Amino acid sequence: MNRRKFLGYTAIGLGAGIGGLTLWNPFKEGRSVSAQAITNNNFVPDVEIALTAQPGEVSIFSGKLTQVQHYTARVLKGPSSVVQTLENTYLGPILRLKTGQNVRVRFTNQIDQETIVHWHGLHVPEQADGHPRYVIDKGETYVYEFTVANRAGTYWFHPHPHGRTGPQVYSGLAGLFIVQDDEEQAANLPTGAYDIPLIIQDRTFDANNQLVYLSGGMMQRMNGFLGNRILVNGQPDPVFKVASNVYRLRLLNGSNSRIYKIAWSDGSPLTIIGTDGGLLEKPLNRPYVMLGPAERIELWADFSNYTPNSSVKLVSLPFDGAGGMGMMGGMMGRRRQGQSLPNGSGFDLARFDIVKKETPALTLPIVLSKIEPVDIRAAVNANNPRTFTFAMGMGSATINGRTFEMTRVASDEVVKLNTSEVWRLVNGGGGGMGMMGGMMQMPHPVHVHGLQFRVLERTPGAGWQSMKDGFVDEGWKDTVLLMPGMQAKILLRFVDFSGLYLYHCHNLEHEDMGMMRNYLIEA
Ligand code: C2O
Ligand code: CU
Repeated sequence: MNRRKFLGYTAIGLGAGIGGLTLWNPFKEGRSVSAQAITNNNFVPDVEIALTAQPGEVSIFSGKLTQVQHYTARVLKGPSSVVQTLENTYLGPILRLKTGQNVRVRFTNQIDQETIVHWHGLHVPEQADGHPRYVIDKGETYVYEFTVANRAGTYWFHPHPHGRTGPQVYSGLAGLFIVQDDEEQAANLPTGAYDIPLIIQDRTFDANNQLVYLSGGMMQRMNGFLGNRILVNGQPDPVFKVASNVYRLRLLNGSNSRIYKIAWSDGSPLTIIGTDGGLLEKPLNRPYVMLGPAERIELWADFSNYTPNSSVKLVSLPFDGAGGMGMMGGMMGRRRQGQSLPNGSGFDLARFDIVKKETPALTLPIVLSKIEPVDIRAAVNANNPRTFTFAMGMGSATINGRTFEMTRVASDEVVKLNTSEVWRLVNGGGGGMGMMGGMMQMPHPVHVHGLQFRVLERTPGAGWQSMKDGFVDEGWKDTVLLMPGMQAKILLRFVDFSGLYLYHCHNLEHEDMGMMRNYLIEA
């Protein structure tokens, strides 16, 4: 990354106001007014994209078309390969950028609610981060300008208006932001048709093929919405026709609240090459991976051992203990009203049909990328981590006892620019004993905006030993899944940009209930 250019841009970005554009007014609670922009005269985009959120209809099942909301994109400057449109699905587009490129996105809202776009996992100035205070109304345009600072990896984008992220993502608004760099190119991984994104989501449809959201009321909201159909890239029962060759599979859990326990149907280990923040240092073999909402995992899939005309599936295994007695049975195993596919049940995700014989030219690299070693001594509070406890109450979802406030931070939510810190993230359950206390023990996938962090350690909750495995904590992360009672220590580094960013539970129903807070990076 060109750090000088970066810092220069920040300074200009923060001082913007050029051209009579309206900027956020910190003294006005709620949202800002009129069309907003952070454009400055010195920013020269390498790539410029027009992105629109709009209503649409797609064919998901035979019969009636499904009403959705989706993003469409058009390249205004740069190669047309920057935008890849996915056919016949609400999902997408896939944006493909390179590290170091200057990107301008002109985002226009054409849906009937206020919205804003968040670039999940990207290290961007606060005005480009999609904070809910930047929401725009229908017909308005928000201009994002940022330099792609992240390493190669699978990032994504989705709406972030307060209280409405769940329904808007559910309605179809989500796309991928794939970053490429030289290091990744040197690793010589499968590309083109051998590089397949798999966006995994669950949805419920009515008899007319229309999406149904939160039909189960309060309990469904507290658990998080769970659909009864699994879709991959917006399609039910997906089948991928592949050759007996090696593939790179980029999995995104784009679900509102569902957790997947990813595995191959024939018991082969998963070969993991990347996580949220890009490639690992070296490949890992694991029997399965727990993938929480917003998390990504990249697999090296070698179909060369399968004979033509055979097939293998990616599946989600039942969670240990699901369907059993006690808390886990109550929380995850039981069928709730209107919910035919509880969290923790097993099902197929996607089938791969090996239809063609090929001899792989690529071999699995021994070294994928360079990841700097974790240096906890660099943290200003290594011995005294900042603690954030995520807890459910009856109808409430809080962090350290607080819910979201649009522009406020508490005294323990202010960090200093150019420092590193250790944060202890605690899944504090629901407190209380007995039935209700038990039911409020639920997973929280915790996401921090504006950066990638490292997971230092993870401690399972007492009595939840069956849920302690399946996490890939080796690489860079922006979301860490905390099972009931679990704690994780993470190392974060605040560089390049000051300002107001978010940290929250990425169970979108929890987020919309207020399990989200600002943190301030102070210059
Ligand atoms: Cu992907 Cu604040 O979220
Ligand atoms: Cu949560």
